[in-house]
Amino acid sequence: MTVNHDVVGSNPARVVLYYIKQLFHYFYKPPLLKELMELDRAIQERRSIRKFSKKKPDWREIIECIDAARFAPMAGNCYSPRFILIDDTEKIKKLAEASQQPFIAEANYVVIVTSNPDRTTNSFEERAEMYLRQQAGAAIQNFLLKITEKKLATCWIGAFADDLVKEVTGIPGSVKVEALFPIGYELKKPTTRQDKTSLDRILYFNKYGNKNMMHEKKINA
Ligand SMILES: Cc1cc2nc3c(=O)[nH]c(=O)nc-3n(C[C@H](O)[C@H](O)[C@H](O)COP(=O)(O)O)c2cc1C
Repeated sequence: MTVNHDVVGSNPARVVLYYIKQLFHYFYKPPLLKELMELDRAIQERRSIRKFSKKKPDWREIIECIDAARFAPMAGNCYSPRFILIDDTEKIKKLAEASQQPFIAEANYVVIVTSNPDRTTNSFEERAEMYLRQQAGAAIQNFLLKITEKKLATCWIGAFADDLVKEVTGIPGSVKVEALFPIGYELKKPTTRQDKTSLDRILYFNKYGNKNMMHEKKINA
């Protein structure tokens, strides 16, 4: 580290201050960068957990995760997802039966994500169905990342009998049940790392199926 005397001058106090400032800049990571690193960690650490410990989550923490879902993008800013937080043990048992997935009954809480189609359908007609599904997905991913950040655990449940879930929770006919999320704390970390697809398999350039970033050479006749 060398001192630029044109800027700092030769006053010893200013030179010391200069060194302190340099050290601060060297060690200090701006908050945005820190947050980005935490986001990366949440994205990569999120896992589907199907075994919960006996420890009961604080329901307020689950509400904070649902709050994160509010910030997802929505076509025309029409917010379609609706959330139901269930803590009624009998209802949770029935939801496990409706899904034929007994581990759900081990959770203290279940969050049901639904879509209210009214405003989106009015605004976007035939594209609304697609938007509703995409919006639910965007909201759910925010929710899941917040669950991960809070060290809570869940598993996305997409297989269930819609009519039974609606019956148990009083969801009206026009409202779609998107997914269920049993919430707890993980009993133990999954030992196997879920094989995630490689970037190479899912990324194309300029044309579907084209794996090459290079532009095709134009030959002038
Ligand atoms: C739309 C959807 C439906 C799913 N339905 C179920 C389900 O009914 N039961 C279940 O145990 N896991 C379900 N999963 C979780 C997947 O099995 C899991 O995400 C996948 O195996 C990848 O593992 P990971 O979440 O740990 O990365 C579902 C996931 C998605 C996105």
